[in-house]
Amino acid sequence: MIRVSLVSLFPSTKDMPMDGHDSIRFDLQPHPAPTAADARAALVANPGFGRVFTDHMVVIDYTEGQGWHDARVTARAPLTLDPACAVLHYAQEIFEGLKAYRTPTGGAAMFRPDANARRFYKSAERMAMAPLPEALFLESVRRLVQVDRDWIPSAEGGSLYLRPFMIANETFLGVKPSAQYLYMVIASSVGSYFKGGADGVTVWVSQNDTRAASGGTGAAKCGGNYAASLRAQAEAVRNGCDQVVFLDAVERRRVEELGGMNVFFVFQDGSLLTPPLDGTILPGITRDSIITLARDAGLAVREAHYTLDEWRADAASGKLQEVFACGTAAVITPIGRIRNPEGEFVAGAAGTAGGPVTQRLRKTLVDIQRGTAPDPHGWVHTVF
Ligand code: PLP
Ligand code: COI
Repeated sequence: MIRVSLVSLFPSTKDMPMDGHDSIRFDLQPHPAPTAADARAALVANPGFGRVFTDHMVVIDYTEGQGWHDARVTARAPLTLDPACAVLHYAQEIFEGLKAYRTPTGGAAMFRPDANARRFYKSAERMAMAPLPEALFLESVRRLVQVDRDWIPSAEGGSLYLRPFMIANETFLGVKPSAQYLYMVIASSVGSYFKGGADGVTVWVSQNDTRAASGGTGAAKCGGNYAASLRAQAEAVRNGCDQVVFLDAVERRRVEELGGMNVFFVFQDGSLLTPPLDGTILPGITRDSIITLARDAGLAVREAHYTLDEWRADAASGKLQEVFACGTAAVITPIGRIRNPEGEFVAGAAGTAGGPVTQRLRKTLVDIQRGTAPDPHGWVHTVF
């Protein structure tokens, strides 16, 4: 195998997120038989979401006492894990999701990867894992985009979805934080998350299951949160819905978020509301970007609780006009209908396909992400 050593200056000590004196070297181990150009073009042409993977992956090991080591960009391949590997038993696992886009000049750029690096660090702390230095996270995603640049779809709506993740891989059955971790990044050529594209989705209100409670892991991006959401998501699909919406775990009244997205409400007076970051919902980077862009446009945004009863009443009276879901995978997707065992209502008075505020915010966000509009907040990180 050809090994090209690429020098990089990064700390290997978990407590030195940016400017340590240590360095980590990334080895580039190119895929010995990468996908042929015509086969890749066919895969990337209409990829759907999360089924088409690139040729390479990033791997970095962590060992207690040694820190982060053996960073490499290597051929994407299955893992070998001991059956007693900690993550298989106690689910000490976290992940991120971010996208790289093709720019109008043929280059590539990532959207707010520094925010993903920070959230990954915080998720690791919540799950008692070794936090990955933010600079190392940034370097890892940058290198994968560079090596697999030909997998970024150029079709409208296409992007390269990056999935950094970390697992506890100590071989030990005692219940304690692992002494070893494996950090990896894989990449997937993607189109839109929902088959219906930008048409409104239907959401199912979970009656029995909640997603997170105060003091729990709701604000961390850990796999366990998603495992716990799957029964409600499956129920949503059985009832003809695209996504599940979770209510708070205490009173079962307040809207929190969807299984994989945050939610915004748009009122008749043009103001927006989104549930607050009380520790039970994921602090979405798209959510944060929308708050900023809406305020830039002169719209008032409240981070406040909103109940399902208020939602139903305001949609009926016309006070609530538009509702949308947002996230890296979903971008901004109108919510058209709400359904539960008692029945269904149209999410907002503007109708099931969303309305002008949703459309305008979506265009503003997407144009910045794709480099076709100015980037006043410095969110776009050019890769090449
Ligand atoms: N909420 C949940 C549960 C999610 O899985 C996601 C997606 O990552 C989001 C919200 C939106 O977060 P972001 O905008 O950072 O992708
Ligand atoms: C993302 O948007 O990155 C997520 O992790 C959510 C999931 C629905 C793919």
